[in-house]
Amino acid sequence: MTRNRAIKRPNRNETSVLRNKPTAPSRPDPQTLEIVIWPAPVLTQRAQDVGTIDAWLLQVIERMKHLMESHEGVGLAAPQVGLPLRLFVMAEKAKAEQAVAVINPVLELDSQTEEAEEGCLSLPGIRGQIMRAKKITLSGYDVKGEPISMPLEGFPARIAQHENDHLDGVLIISRMAPTARIAIGKKLRELTKLS
Ligand code: NI
Repeated sequence: MTRNRAIKRPNRNETSVLRNKPTAPSRPDPQTLEIVIWPAPVLTQRAQDVGTIDAWLLQVIERMKHLMESHEGVGLAAPQVGLPLRLFVMAEKAKAEQAVAVINPVLELDSQTEEAEEGCLSLPGIRGQIMRAKKITLSGYDVKGEPISMPLEGFPARIAQHENDHLDGVLIISRMAPTARIAIGKKLRELTKLS
């Protein structure tokens, strides 16, 4: 996908879907959710808007925060626990109690970009230099269904862009330069064998 696709996504469903559409095709026990590793198909599909914030979804969010902290991540998107939903959690210091959940996020990206190294809990052992917007505005809904909108810069802006990519089925491997992708080819083949 192009870097600008998230902005262009029509947002006319953003409020209506929060009222009464079904949340997900399947609703597994949140306690059974684990981190899904590439090349699981859910990681490369576009996730659906969250329809309803209910007790199940709140438990999913708590589980995601727990998994993020226990794997020392700074963000985790719902597809990474096998759920094709537009939702992610993020915390700069990998602490569950500091993590915020963003539901049906929409990002506006500033034109200024910068490159930095990223890793991904669904791509263990792989890191790469990724170009991201330096500043963004992150909008969406909090766990109470209240609209949120916050300017982010630097590392938190990078986390939000990485996690939002997951909701469009985009992973860091597709954002790496071709030469960097060749360099990680062996590691990717190992992950394919593990699945
Ligand atoms: Ni990731």
